[in-house]
Amino acid sequence: MKVLVVGSGGREHALCASLRRSPLLTTLFCAPGSGGIAGVAQCVAIGVDDLEGMCRFATAEEIDLVVVGPERPLVEGLVDRLEAAGVRAFGPRAAAARLEGSKAFMKSFARRHGIPTAACRVFDAARRHEAEAHVRNHPLPVVVKADGLAAGKGVVVAEDTASALAALDAAFEGRLGDAGACVVVEEFLEGEEASLFALCDGIHAIGIGTAQDHKRAFDGDRGPNTGGMGAYSPAPILGGAMTERVMREIVRPTLAGMAAEGTPFSGFLYAGLMIGADGPRLVEFNVRFGDPECQTVLPRLKSDLLGLLTAATRGVLDTQEVAFADDHALTVVAATRGYPGAYEKGSVVGGLPDVLDDPDVMIFHAGTRRDGDLWRAEGGRVFAVTGLGGSLAVARAKAYAALARICWPEGYYRSDIGWRALRRT
Ligand code: AMP
Ligand code: GLY
Repeated sequence: MKVLVVGSGGREHALCASLRRSPLLTTLFCAPGSGGIAGVAQCVAIGVDDLEGMCRFATAEEIDLVVVGPERPLVEGLVDRLEAAGVRAFGPRAAAARLEGSKAFMKSFARRHGIPTAACRVFDAARRHEAEAHVRNHPLPVVVKADGLAAGKGVVVAEDTASALAALDAAFEGRLGDAGACVVVEEFLEGEEASLFALCDGIHAIGIGTAQDHKRAFDGDRGPNTGGMGAYSPAPILGGAMTERVMREIVRPTLAGMAAEGTPFSGFLYAGLMIGADGPRLVEFNVRFGDPECQTVLPRLKSDLLGLLTAATRGVLDTQEVAFADDHALTVVAATRGYPGAYEKGSVVGGLPDVLDDPDVMIFHAGTRRDGDLWRAEGGRVFAVTGLGGSLAVARAKAYAALARICWPEGYYRSDIGWRALRRT
């Protein structure tokens, strides 16, 4: 099969590395890809926002399957366009991608279908005064969310009323662009956060792993929110019984509800959960794999990823089984100093290739550029190191040992990835 992966991050590097192992694969393209991805796929210079260009390339190359990594092209309808051009694509159509593209849609959908989630109210700019009055009367903390895609900047967990009002101002004064035209004000959920990933074909959903992310930039879960600074899999809080409960109470009702509303969901469904005293509640849906969760989940996958994704596009996931290695995986993200704020580009990351002599260590590039024999850092999150092991402690030791061999004074990483899970053992 000829496969095209859309995207350029660490997630897409991990997708490409897994697809590469498939006996079904003949040629692997990635658009636009990256210096690191060029080691496993042929990179094609088409931007993720160039939907027309992606369709042209997929048609001209007679691609058998397009796998879309990031959310924006999904929300903007890349899969719809590919299908209209006769190209098979893995990922939701635009109408189903609204589960991530509009938090207001997600919340009203959850209410219609009895899916447990935080109580909320939705306001647009015309009802700004009502929103302000609601926030003033709301118990604290209160969560204020921009409706649309805001690249991780749209959610404020406000400990005091002033911060909640400031979040409303940011949204209604256009500082989040179109994403803030409407806001969701919701109840704060207590519990432990974890994520479950389901592979969906419009009717059936099968679990494809669990993970816990670390969103804050610095050790001790301090500092600004980021796209994710590290993750591990499996998530101990999502054991067999709890996973089954999430599938029964959240994932399967979502698949059934989306199909009943005429917008069946196929693709990766990322359920961001809060596991509280009264069970799991849905915090958010993403309509794609997580980054860096993909880099921590896929290295444990024993099944053929390409076979699974193809089955998903054919609506026959009920014939498939997903097998995992018993291993644990732990991924640490290395970022340029300054991220998630402003940072310099172009610093040299020394020692990157040298750590690949250990089969239990994998490196996924996110923002690197090849410059002769050197790797240069070109992004915020630059690469991720995944360690595998028979226990989480071993996986963690492998990842940190590999990082210690990389010389990059301009970069930083958290030294406490996995602390929550290790505290349990
Ligand atoms: P979201 O993009 O909706 O996942 O929100 C980003 C992060 O904000 C989540 O991963 C949680 O850590 C936090 N968060 C969002 N909604 C809530 C909530 N209702 N209660 C507690 N924390 C929340
Ligand atoms: N790591 C969080 C996300 O991919 O949304």
